Amino acid sequence: MSGAGGEPTRVGVVGLGYWGPNLARNLGSISGCEVAWLCDASEQARERLAPSFPNARLTGSLDDLLADAALDAVVLATPVPSHAELASAVLAADKHCFVEKPLATTAADAERAVAAAQASGRVLMVGHLLEYHPAVTRLKELVDGDELGDLFYIYGNRLNLGKLRADENALWSLGAHDVSVALHLIGEEPVECTAQGASFVREGVQDVVFCYLRFPSGVVAHLHLSWLDPHKERRVTVVGARRMATFDDMLIEGKLTIYDKGFDEDTRSWGEYIARSGDTFSPRIPNVEPLRVECEHFIECVRTGARPRSDGRSGLRVVRVLEQLQHSLDTGGRATAAVAPAAG
Ligand SMILES: NC(=O)c1ccc[n+]([C@@H]2O[C@H](COP(=O)([O-])OP(=O)(O)OC[C@H]3O[C@@H](n4cnc5c(N)ncnc54)[C@H](O)[C@@H]3O)[C@@H](O)[C@H]2O)c1
Repeated sequence: MSGAGGEPTRVGVVGLGYWGPNLARNLGSISGCEVAWLCDASEQARERLAPSFPNARLTGSLDDLLADAALDAVVLATPVPSHAELASAVLAADKHCFVEKPLATTAADAERAVAAAQASGRVLMVGHLLEYHPAVTRLKELVDGDELGDLFYIYGNRLNLGKLRADENALWSLGAHDVSVALHLIGEEPVECTAQGASFVREGVQDVVFCYLRFPSGVVAHLHLSWLDPHKERRVTVVGARRMATFDDMLIEGKLTIYDKGFDEDTRSWGEYIARSGDTFSPRIPNVEPLRVECEHFIECVRTGARPRSDGRSGLRVVRVLEQLQHSLDTGGRATAAVAPAAG
């Protein structure tokens, strides 16, 4: 195991389909981090990645990783329905665990994974990638620094043609990102969750979902999620009392833009408001890969025992909202209140 004396931090990556190789590539390029195992149920997936990691051992079974006393951490990039069970097994074997988003498909399963982390004292981090995006970090600083004034509302557009999934709908696949960003920026859990959507391509799997969230402070959020759309959009708009901001991840430059726009009271006629349309400003955002920042944060937490920004509890909060939204979706758009807030 890694620790004092310059020992490397040894990680194993499980799930080498579309996303796992990106995690392995980033982890392998972090100084002092060694990808010791590559694991996938598919031999083809293992063989495809093996040449890039000549020193890694290959296996089709997570048990081999859990039995390796020299392994510090396991990174899970398997399909969503397997997340909570595999993460709990990793933590029960006293390994640190990074699990891709969302943490689980139900709040009850997510709670079990959080309990497993608590019992083992190991790090549990959920791959809510956008929380590690430098533009979101800057946006959060603007919100917390009261640069936008009191928050009024937030809306997210996450649209594209594909990737069409069978084991999760557009809410769980795309919405996990926007829900995590909304909770991160607003710093509250919603008191009302409503969603409507429709399945056009595959029966029972919603391709397009519209969500509405209302928070205790009065802030509201709307999410438009679709993998059946002619536009490719990845945009979050934040409207505050003093300024407004957009995070547009499709732009190469100006990903974050702040608009000095709003309404001011017209001092000439009491009770009237006039629109203010001032400067528009795009701060420089460091050109680093968010996945790299996320992986470095995980390894840092493994080494120091620090609590990750997107720890198990924050992953649980996202799952609770997704579950409420799914419930609303299943009942034709009825509003559901989020259950008792997660502690911590
Ligand atoms: N953060 C992001 O932006 C982002 C982007 C894409 C995917 N993801 C997440 O990554 C995860 C994987 O998605 P994907 O698109 O790579 O899926 P995928 O289907 O392409 O790959 C999953 C792989 O896991 C393997 N697998 C399944 N169960 C296993 C088990 N028990 N043991 C070992 N291997 C097993 C499969 O053989 C497959 O190769 C999902 O949670 C998804 O939400 C995140």
